Amino acid sequence: MPSTAELPDDPRLPALAAIRDRLGQVIPERELGDGPVEIRLCNHVPGSRATFEVRTGERRLALKAYAEDPTPEAELYRHLARVGLAGVSSARVPRLLAVHPTLRVLVMEWLDGPSLSQLVRRGDGERAGRLAASWLWHASRRRVKRGPPCGTGRLLYQVGVSVAALGASDRDLGAAAKVAAKSLVRSQPRERSVGLVHGTLYARHILDLGDGPGVIDWQQFGQGPVEVDAGMFLATISRLALRHSDAAGAAARAEETFVSRTRGLVDPLALDWYRAAGLLHLAASGLKTGLKRFVPPEAHALVAEAARRAAPAGAAPAFVFPETPRPFARIRSAFTIRSRTPSLVHPVGPAATTQPDPDKARGIGGTKPR
Ligand SMILES: Nc1ncnc2c1ncn2[C@@H]1O[C@H](COP(=O)(O)OP(=O)(O)OP(=O)(O)O)[C@@H](O)[C@H]1O
Ligand SMILES: [Mg+2]
Repeated sequence: MPSTAELPDDPRLPALAAIRDRLGQVIPERELGDGPVEIRLCNHVPGSRATFEVRTGERRLALKAYAEDPTPEAELYRHLARVGLAGVSSARVPRLLAVHPTLRVLVMEWLDGPSLSQLVRRGDGERAGRLAASWLWHASRRRVKRGPPCGTGRLLYQVGVSVAALGASDRDLGAAAKVAAKSLVRSQPRERSVGLVHGTLYARHILDLGDGPGVIDWQQFGQGPVEVDAGMFLATISRLALRHSDAAGAAARAEETFVSRTRGLVDPLALDWYRAAGLLHLAASGLKTGLKRFVPPEAHALVAEAARRAAPAGAAPAFVFPETPRPFARIRSAFTIRSRTPSLVHPVGPAATTQPDPDKARGIGGTKPR
């Protein structure tokens, strides 16, 4: 029996009581072996989910306890395994080892490697950009028709929730977010083909497995255009650069590499729209679930970037934060006609037709970064 010190109290997650009672009810004995078992809490969102790393002798597993039935997510992992996306090499998701619909728990293979946000923080932005692009190419080659719609409609709904949450914590920020949201409503991209999207493709959800990207946490998967995931990935890269100024250079390289390696797959104009929606979502993260009471320090900059990206080409965002320093620069910027996308590096021009994953041709890193 492992120590239960790491088990939070959360009556909405029935798996926790079962683990306390007997771990074998949750993880099949064949996966546990005879040796000592260690459980480490990775994340807990009260009332929603808890994630654990389970170590048993040589084995390492991921265990996710949910408040809602995780069967759809479990079925997705099974399906991705059938279409070759849960193998032992190349791009993959964790293999599903067990599912308990009544205890609402999934047991999965542990994928070993640093996350792309860790790569960027260590200075290896180029590799992070390559791995994220590689994932999108691999995923785009499979026709997976599962999951609810996850396009402009769902994102605009999320944007509305974000605006309300930001406004409840900070009036000016809420007003600025509203301006960005209105631009998004006016400039919705036409949806091209849709396919499987992760829905929360944050840099921390992609791992560097040495021979390809590993993508975890598919709880929000759905059907949408590829720009949903590309936009969210880049929104998290923007946030990383804001949170860690020493990583700004590596973040710029991650963006540059990602954008150049997804040329022909991702439409740059639609990408701006989805990225803006992602930025608003990140600005309000924690506020929407009630986990945080105060806006994160980078929220103003995230909303400002969202407003710039959401503004239709040639238009300047109308809102200026009252507390922004340097009034002349501020007033000038409010009237400046600017072209779209003040990106670190961002190609313009229409998306070309499909081209092969450059990683395939060049063989993405055989070794893990130090
Ligand atoms: N299969 C896995 N392989 C390796 N690491 C994992 C795996 N599953 C979870 N983790 C680790 O646990 C962390 C939390 O997992 P996950 O993102 O699935 O949970 P979450 O509750 O949705 O977290 P968050 O709200 O931060 O996204 C991950 O960032 C990762 O470090
Ligand atoms: Mg997660």
